[in-house]
Amino acid sequence: MAEVNASPLKHFVTAKKKINGIFEQLGAYIKESSSFLEDTHKNEELDPVTTEEQVQEVRGYLAKVAGIGEVLARRHMKVVFFGRTSNGKSSVINAMLCDKVLPSGIGHTTNCFLRVEGTDGNEAFLLTEGSEERKSIKTVNQLAHALHQDEDLDAGSLVCVMWPKAKCALLRDDLVLVDSPGIDVTTELDSWIDKFCLDADVFVLVANSESTLMQTEKSFFHKVNERLSSPNIFILNNRWDASASEPEYMEEVRRQHMDRCSSFLVDELGVVDRAQAGDRIFFVSAKEVLQARVQKAQGMPEAGVDRGKNTHTYTGYTRDKPECISQSAVKTKFEQHTVRAKQISEALRLIMDSVHLYICVSVFRIHCLETREDRQDRMEFIDKQLDLLTMDCKAKIKKITEEVERQVSNAMAEEIRRLHVLVDDFHLDFHPSQVVLKVYKNELHRHVEEGLGRNMSERCSSAITTALQATQTEMIEGLKPLLPGAVREQVDKLVPRQCFSLSYDLACDKLCSDFQEDISFHFSLGWTMLVNRFLGPKNTRRALMGYNDQVTPSRTCCVLVSLGAMTQEELMVSMVTGLASLTSRTSMGIIVVGGVIWKAVGWRLIALSVGLYGLLYVYERLTWTTKAKERAFKRQFVDYASEKLQLIVSYTGSNCSHQVQQELAGVFSQLCQQVDVTRQNLEDEINDMNSKIELLDSLQSKAKLLRNKAGWLDSELNMFTQQYLHQGR
Ligand code: GTP
Ligand code: MG
Repeated sequence: MAEVNASPLKHFVTAKKKINGIFEQLGAYIKESSSFLEDTHKNEELDPVTTEEQVQEVRGYLAKVAGIGEVLARRHMKVVFFGRTSNGKSSVINAMLCDKVLPSGIGHTTNCFLRVEGTDGNEAFLLTEGSEERKSIKTVNQLAHALHQDEDLDAGSLVCVMWPKAKCALLRDDLVLVDSPGIDVTTELDSWIDKFCLDADVFVLVANSESTLMQTEKSFFHKVNERLSSPNIFILNNRWDASASEPEYMEEVRRQHMDRCSSFLVDELGVVDRAQAGDRIFFVSAKEVLQARVQKAQGMPEAGVDRGKNTHTYTGYTRDKPECISQSAVKTKFEQHTVRAKQISEALRLIMDSVHLYICVSVFRIHCLETREDRQDRMEFIDKQLDLLTMDCKAKIKKITEEVERQVSNAMAEEIRRLHVLVDDFHLDFHPSQVVLKVYKNELHRHVEEGLGRNMSERCSSAITTALQATQTEMIEGLKPLLPGAVREQVDKLVPRQCFSLSYDLACDKLCSDFQEDISFHFSLGWTMLVNRFLGPKNTRRALMGYNDQVTPSRTCCVLVSLGAMTQEELMVSMVTGLASLTSRTSMGIIVVGGVIWKAVGWRLIALSVGLYGLLYVYERLTWTTKAKERAFKRQFVDYASEKLQLIVSYTGSNCSHQVQQELAGVFSQLCQQVDVTRQNLEDEINDMNSKIELLDSLQSKAKLLRNKAGWLDSELNMFTQQYLHQGR
């Protein structure tokens, strides 16, 4: 049983598995290569790395390999048996199946094509063309005869015999055996070839060793040979048992058959070399072998083999033939495909090699690398220069702001000194009434503010603006080289420089809002005024505490009358003394002193003095007009405003310098913005180049990978050739 189970077709099966695996990998590989080439070709970011021809070529391979894969994937090895009627075709197949599966008998038995293949189930059945119906195999003989009778079934019809694989080792290995009607009973050989021979892996000519090869047999195989390129043909000389009846001629007959069959295969058909022809010609007795096998299967001794006949021939048939067929089938079925696959993998290896090399030396890649380096250098330069220029500009701004602060402070101090001129220039109807005064003050504030602003800007603005513009120009010139050519020309538009004017913002009205004028009449020799003159305004206030601020002439007169007729010098002395004594606040003291003086100088002088004093008073009182009041008002305002303005000199200076600093910083930051845009553009360009280079690198490594894969497939195909195609040579 072990012998029966050992599969002589294993060679074909493993070879088929192997080559199918290789073709699957080759198909996947070509698919991968094709999409790689297509994607690369379509990629718009890159210069075309692959050509349209390469894409088309690989696409063509894809279709070719898919077609070959499909053929290879057919799960069987198809062996077709042809020969004249009664040569024993059906018997040979039965012998191979070790059972009487197909009907055989004297005369024209098989009247249509019978295809025997394995089924996984335990029940055998039949399938007829164009019908799904499964017919039990038990009726095979009846069916064969029925088919013989059936007029619907002609010689070109096909019936499938599904035989359990468990019963036959050969069928387990996906062997398909096709029995045919005798070729001498038909005229439709051409249509038979079309229908049953084109996908056949092996052709077996079952000849009758009792006669020689007939023209019918020969011409059929000539036709087959015309339609198929180098078909795989074997010749079985059946009924060899007949030679046993004449053993003396056995070798002679054998040699004769061998010669004729060889010459047919080698010379006429040209399908094999003479050296290999011997492997294609067999001498068998299907009847004997079948008997022996059936008996063996039933556990009985192999009667046919033991009857002293040429056992070598018969047993040789059982094992050698399928193995030989298997090897031969492997060769015919797979050799061409292997060669084609090798050519394809080689072509793809070359394509991938050229893609790899192309990317390596591609002008585009070099351009990308150079551009990236250039942009990186530029960016480094910009960064360094920007640092330097920023420091430089800061120093310049600092210098100019200090200068502005100094200039503005000086100009303002000068203006404060000249404030009286400005105030004197102010003309508006003056009246001491509160309402008019309010309006007057407001207008005066405005006049002073405007005037001061105008004067200050006359003094400083032009110098400051010139310095400012010079600094701006220096900054622009410094930063220009960092900008790209196109931007450089437009930099004046991109960095607008507004007409700069300093705002001094003196806010006179707020500054002088607390100003309180004093335009009431003050007699110059009045008590308050005198004290004020000697002690200063502060001490006067202190000294006059308790006194009525209003020093009337009559009161003063009383005091002076008590002074008597004193000389001017004496009067002054007494005044000083009087003043000193004032602090003691003793009026009695004054009266006493007055009495003493009265006595000393006499009443005339006193009267004169009083008269003069009165006259002076009257004079001053009369000249205390609105004009005088306005003058006094203006004087007081100038004093007050000067004092207040003095307080804001440094503030104004720093305010103006701040404005200049803001202006310059604004221009500088705008320039920096432009540089930033340039820098950003460079950075974008670098990133773009990086991604392109990365992409090229990845494509390159992918091409390399695919090239190596092609090499690997090639070595797989070589191994397959070595293992399965060159074996036994
Ligand atoms: P058709 O189907 O009619 O074309 O014939 P076939 O080629 O299938 O022949 P088949 O197998 O039906 O055999 C015809 C007759 O020859 C049968 O009676 C077989 O028993 C007999 N026969 C087949 N092989 C041998 C053999 O090797 N020796 C002898 N003596 N008879 C055989
Ligand atoms: Mg038959």
